Amino acid sequence: MHEATKIIRSTLTRAEAGEPLHAGPVFAAPYHVPGDPTASPYTYARSHNPTWTHLEKAIAQMESGEGYRASALVFASGMAACTAIFGAVLRPGDAVVLPSNAYFAARVLAQEYFAQMGVEVRLAPTAGDAQAAQLAGAKLLWIETPSNPTMDVCDIAALSEAAHRAGALVAVDNTTPTPMGQRPLELGADFSVASDTKAMTGHSDILVGHVAVRDLELKQKIDQWRTLTGGVLGPMEAWLALRSIATLPLRLERACANAQRIAEFLARRAEVEQVMYPGLQTHPGHEVAKRQMRYFGPVLSFVLRDKVAAETFMAKSKLLVDATSFGGITSSAERRARWGGDKIADGFIRLSAGCEMIDDLLEDIGQALDATR
Ligand SMILES: Cc1ncc(COP(=O)(O)O)c(C=O)c1O
Repeated sequence: MHEATKIIRSTLTRAEAGEPLHAGPVFAAPYHVPGDPTASPYTYARSHNPTWTHLEKAIAQMESGEGYRASALVFASGMAACTAIFGAVLRPGDAVVLPSNAYFAARVLAQEYFAQMGVEVRLAPTAGDAQAAQLAGAKLLWIETPSNPTMDVCDIAALSEAAHRAGALVAVDNTTPTPMGQRPLELGADFSVASDTKAMTGHSDILVGHVAVRDLELKQKIDQWRTLTGGVLGPMEAWLALRSIATLPLRLERACANAQRIAEFLARRAEVEQVMYPGLQTHPGHEVAKRQMRYFGPVLSFVLRDKVAAETFMAKSKLLVDATSFGGITSSAERRARWGGDKIADGFIRLSAGCEMIDDLLEDIGQALDATR
């Protein structure tokens, strides 16, 4: 079966007479547990829930590849999933190698909390696989490719090999492409982690995250972290996520095709100083991206002359929702430097292509660019 078919089928219940096609959310705190608790599949909802199980099976199928079956664990947000890896793996005296241009909250978490608990935090850029030079004696290599928001690309397979040679585990933040666009575990990583708040669920209405692994011992460690820390995903969100995942193949294909067309359009415009999208042949990471990605993702970034030009662009666009986050069915964009925290130009815009008709998007973006002259 093709992957799109498998993803759509993974949200169905078993075909039993009278059963609904899609199970509803299971709202429970404790479950009936007569006698020996190990005989019961569910005991208490901080540890497990049938709606999670269904979602986790659907995600695990997407994360599985040639020669291995992945397991997935869902979390209340992408950051809860990232924190679970840091917390389960890093101890005082360990070193973690992070991208200097990683998603800012992951960087702040490492630098302001884990560093103060005795973890050495080493930073190096994503581009050019520069993190490889920092691996000696490290416990964890954290990769983000394409990176948010600068869309830099690194070679997951090459870096995983180098990290394993140095004795480090490898985690890839796979938020922008989703496992349909890129499968880090198949490329050699130990953890694939994502904010499923973004393209994976795609409707801009829930926070969800997941961690996927091949190794059952690592799964057990992450699972224990989740149960002990307890900020878990609600059943309603799990159910909405499962419902949303069924349309991922349709959404991702359209959004990525739109992103490619928008990136090509922007690259031809005089008002645009730089376009960053791994699907462009001119992107320095294009050849690596082509090898390791099946879709280049819905997100791209570009730079306008200055802050005023970027603000004018955002004000004049009628179709780009001015909002943070990305991966939704509605195209959105923002002048990213308004938040601070990333080393980017004042005129830097991150754009997330949605599923609208491309001609409408290009016409809107064109007129908004005209207004910046
Ligand atoms: C690359 C990346 N990783 C992790 C996160 C955190 O996800 P969440 O907002 O679901 O906690 C984000 C959120 O923007 C992100 O862009």
